[in-house]
Amino acid sequence: MENVTVIDHPLVQHKLSLLRNKETDTFTFRLLLREVSLLLGYEVTRDLELELNTIETPLAEMQAPFLAGKKLALISILRAGNGLVDGLLDLIPSARVGHVGLYRDPDTLVAVEYYFKVPSDLSDRPVIVADPMLATANTAIAAVDRMKDANASKIKMVCLLSCPEGVEAFTTAHPDVHVYTAAIDERLNDHGYIIPGIGDAGDRLYGTK
Ligand code: URA
Repeated sequence: MENVTVIDHPLVQHKLSLLRNKETDTFTFRLLLREVSLLLGYEVTRDLELELNTIETPLAEMQAPFLAGKKLALISILRAGNGLVDGLLDLIPSARVGHVGLYRDPDTLVAVEYYFKVPSDLSDRPVIVADPMLATANTAIAAVDRMKDANASKIKMVCLLSCPEGVEAFTTAHPDVHVYTAAIDERLNDHGYIIPGIGDAGDRLYGTK
């Protein structure tokens, strides 16, 4: 799976285990997801382009590296994507943020769009699409389709958890989009949930169940 990076850093794995635990309360879950997102973001942004600009330190002039080009765009797949984007924004505060509202039809598991607002000029920006769960991958595939419709070409997908079915479906649909995840779990169940997983990411993040 050359298009997939599993971020197996010990801090990520430790925090993921705490997130998985059903005893973890909403407040702690939210905090942990934010922390993990920041660590995932560190890897996802590893190959951002740099350019040299002249600066003066207190002692000398130097050519110093700065991020090049347009500000990157973080795209949250609502609503659980916000949990990842909040942490990514801690890392890249100047990023632009877009939101794509997609829900899974409970019967068909097909992605249905209800909201779409993204930064302009996606063609010139690195784009990171965020959704904690790459389960059936239907919503992630649809969101990336929409990014491509909006002329984005440098797209990455970041998720907390994935499963073999989701990875297979996503990388088949979008072989040009690299996936970053903290783990590839065992399987998908009949209701489209990742096993062992973390449960419903949105409900756990917002305490809605
Ligand atoms: N969405 C979730 O929130 N959890 C899953 O396990 C799969 C999809």
